[in-house]
Amino acid sequence: MSVTDDRLQRMRPFGPGGFGHLDARSLPPGPQWPALLQTFALIRFRHQFVPAMHRRYGDVFTVRLLPDGQPLVLFTRPEHAREIFAGDPEVFHAGKGNAILGPIMGEHSLLLLDSAEHKRARSLLLPAFHGSALRGYEGVVTRLAQEEVSRWAPGVPFRSLDRMNTLTLEVILRVVFGVTDDSRLAQLRPVVNRIVDVSPVVLLGWGHPLVTRLRPWRERVADQRVLDTLVYAEIAERRAIPDLAGRTDVLSRLLAVQDDDRLTDEEVRDQLVTLLLAGHETTASALSWALYELARDPEQLAAARSAAAAADREYLEAVVKESMRLHPVIPMVVRHLREPARVAGIDLPRGTNVAPSILLGHARAESHGDPEVFRPRRFLDGEVAAHTWIPFGGGVRRCIGAGFSLMEGVAVLREVLLRHRLSLPGGRADRPKVRNITSVPRHGARIVVHPTPPGEANAPS
Ligand code: HEM
Repeated sequence: MSVTDDRLQRMRPFGPGGFGHLDARSLPPGPQWPALLQTFALIRFRHQFVPAMHRRYGDVFTVRLLPDGQPLVLFTRPEHAREIFAGDPEVFHAGKGNAILGPIMGEHSLLLLDSAEHKRARSLLLPAFHGSALRGYEGVVTRLAQEEVSRWAPGVPFRSLDRMNTLTLEVILRVVFGVTDDSRLAQLRPVVNRIVDVSPVVLLGWGHPLVTRLRPWRERVADQRVLDTLVYAEIAERRAIPDLAGRTDVLSRLLAVQDDDRLTDEEVRDQLVTLLLAGHETTASALSWALYELARDPEQLAAARSAAAAADREYLEAVVKESMRLHPVIPMVVRHLREPARVAGIDLPRGTNVAPSILLGHARAESHGDPEVFRPRRFLDGEVAAHTWIPFGGGVRRCIGAGFSLMEGVAVLREVLLRHRLSLPGGRADRPKVRNITSVPRHGARIVVHPTPPGEANAPS
C-alpha cells in the first residue's frame, strides 16, 4: 500500500478558493510587495525578514503569501501568544496552517487535523508521551547516545548537527517505531533522510499530478512509496506479534488500542510519519545548538559538565531550553481563523492566518534580559515568564513531543558531557539558516572534543 495519486490530490496544500475576500484595510500594516516576494523572504530569509518587518511595522504586522496573497498576521508579544493559544480550537484551526505538510504526513496526521478528529487522535497518542512512558524510553536513548559519543574522535572538528541528526533518527526508529530488525533499519535510514530533506518548494508542488512526473518530485514520491512499503510492513508484522501489550514503543502502543478507537493502518502510518518528521530534525537542531553554545563558553561548559557529573537533570534541561530560546527551531506557529476573531484588540476577519512569532518572542529584551546571551540559569532563577518561551507552541496544539525532546536532550547532553570536553574549532561563528521548515546552524555547529583529563571526576562509571 502507498499514498495513491488520489490521496495526494486530496492532500494538496491549498484547496480551491482564494483569500481575495479579505479586506486589506482591516488588517494590521505590512509590506506591500508582491506575495511571491514576501513568501520567498519568509521562507528563505526569515532571520532577516521577520525582524526587519518588526522594526518597520511594530509588534503586530501582516505579510501576504502565495498562492493568492493570503494574509498572515504575526504577533510578537507574550500576551498575544497567550490569546492565540487560548483561542477556541473550533475557531483557531491549526490543521489548515500545516496543510503544506499534507502530501508527506498524510491526511490523518495529528498536525493536519482539527476539531473532534484532532481531539480523538491526540488522546490516542498522548499516553505514549506522558511522564511514565518517557521514563521508560530513557534507557534506550541513553544507550544510543553512549554508542554515538564513544565514536567521536578527539581533536578532529566535526559537524555536531550531522551527528545529532544520526542519533535522533536512531532514537525515533527504535523508541517510536520500535524497529529492531537490522535490515529494516538499514532500509529505513536513507529513505527517511531524503524525505526529511524536502524543501517547501517541493512541498508546494507535490499534489499536482503533472508536477509529480518531474524531478525532483518524481524522486520524492518514489521515496515516499518506499517509506510507506516499509512502514506498512512493520505495522503488519507488529499487529501479528503475540506480546504486543508488553511492548512499550509508540507504534506498539498505538496498535494496542482496541474497540471503537482502533486505528486503521493508514491512520497509524500517518501518525508515525508525522512523529518521524516532527521529532527528528527539530531535536537534532536544538541539541547541536546546545553543544555549540557550550563549546564556545568555557564557564557554561564547566557548569554543564558539573551538572552532568552530579546527574543534575534540572540544570541540563535548562541548557536545552536556553538553546531552544536563543535558537528557535520552528519560527512560528500558525492558526487559521474559521470565524472572525479579536486578537490584541484587533478584529480580524474569517480566513486570516494568525501566528505568534517564536523567533521574535524569544528575542524580546522585555521578556528575556540580554536576549542575545546564552544563560541557562535564567530558567532556574524564575526569570522566564509564561508565554515568553514558546518553542513548542501552545494550547491544545502544543507539541506532543515536548517532554520527549527535553528527555532526549538531557540524556544526550549528559552522555556527551560525561565523556568529553568541548571547544570550537575556530573560524566563523555559526548562525541560523533555514533548512526546509526548521532553522539549523548554517555551518553545522562544528565542535571539537577532547579527552577528559585524568583525575576529573566526570568519567562515566
Ligand atoms: C526541539 C524539538 C521540537 C520542537 C522545537 C518542536 C516544535 C513544535 C511546534 C512549534 C509545534 C506546533 C505547536 C502548535 O501549533 O502550537 C509542534 C507540534 C508537534 N510536534 Fe513537535 N517539536 C519538537 C519535537 C518533537 C518530537 C520529539 C515529536 C515526537 C516524537 C514531536 C511531535 C509533534 C507533533 C505530533 C505535533 C503536532 C501536535 C498537535 O497538532 O496536536 N515534536 N512541535
